[in-house]
Amino acid sequence: MTIAEFIQKNTAEFERNGVESPRLQVEWMLAHVLNRPRLEVMLDRTRVLSCGELGTLSSLVARRAAREPLQHLLGGTSFCGLDLAVDRHVLIPRPETERLAELAWDFLSGRQSEAGGRLDVLDFGTGSGCLAIAVAARYGEVRVWGIDISRAAILVARANAVAIGVQNRIQFLCGDGLAALGPRFQVDLILSNPPYIPSGEIAGLDPEVRDHDPRRALDGGVDGLDFYRGLAGESGRLLRRGGRLMVEFGDGQADAVAALFEGNGWCVDAVEKDLCGTDRFMIAHQPESREDGSRFSGAA
Ligand SMILES: C[S@@+](CC[C@H](N)C(=O)[O-])C[C@H]1O[C@@H](n2cnc3c(N)ncnc32)[C@H](O)[C@@H]1O
Repeated sequence: MTIAEFIQKNTAEFERNGVESPRLQVEWMLAHVLNRPRLEVMLDRTRVLSCGELGTLSSLVARRAAREPLQHLLGGTSFCGLDLAVDRHVLIPRPETERLAELAWDFLSGRQSEAGGRLDVLDFGTGSGCLAIAVAARYGEVRVWGIDISRAAILVARANAVAIGVQNRIQFLCGDGLAALGPRFQVDLILSNPPYIPSGEIAGLDPEVRDHDPRRALDGGVDGLDFYRGLAGESGRLLRRGGRLMVEFGDGQADAVAALFEGNGWCVDAVEKDLCGTDRFMIAHQPESREDGSRFSGAA
């Protein structure tokens, strides 16, 4: 069977099984198994696949047709241009979360020129370590703490940090909530992409997410807001003067998340959109005086 024939046959198979972007998925599998760039493989359409290659590809196709995520089959994904390993213990980093890393970079570069010295960042619910690592990889003068309740996720995050070469500037801690942090622990930036799917909506998610992302990475409680309640109530003490908190949230949660933080005395600076134009991130700080009111005027 040639590459062109393989693509045609299996694109149709994926279409029948409801796999999104079916042709692209087949192309990525071919690139992975043939260990060549995808575009190069696409230009080699008449090449005949060997029996060994076909055997490996067939098993990947069967797993993908059963809706196992492509990233699990390939063992990794790309986040902010970094190659990260992922498995069933961590949420597969989503493209929209890259914007949260960019917002963090912008804040840190401004803060670096204002304050100078070493900056400290906390990534709450670090999972694969994607946000923590993206920050540490960009700024040599930053120390990062990544917390996660899942010991297995922490192992994946640590291995990713080693692979990228930033392990000396990130400390990964296993803990439930913020309890693992000492009373005097303070940072310049708190980042979090917490679980935010309402529990009752998880059964209706795509099988790739529902059956393969860890439940603990998805479930935000009855209304999806449990982790924002916790952060709004408990993380203010962790922020240095002039510091910021940046969180990702789910579709339609902007007003509720902002109200929760404002109700706990935070000043909401902005709600930012993701690349699809959907409200996705909130930036907030702790007031320095009572006159320091919120500049948030509802979801744009
Ligand atoms: C939505 S995932 C985000 C992972 C990663 N930061 C990302 O953006 O891809 C949320 C993470 O929070 C972790 N988590 C859930 N409950 C937690 C808790 N009580 N304390 C600390 N981490 C928790 C999960 O294990 C999961 O890794």
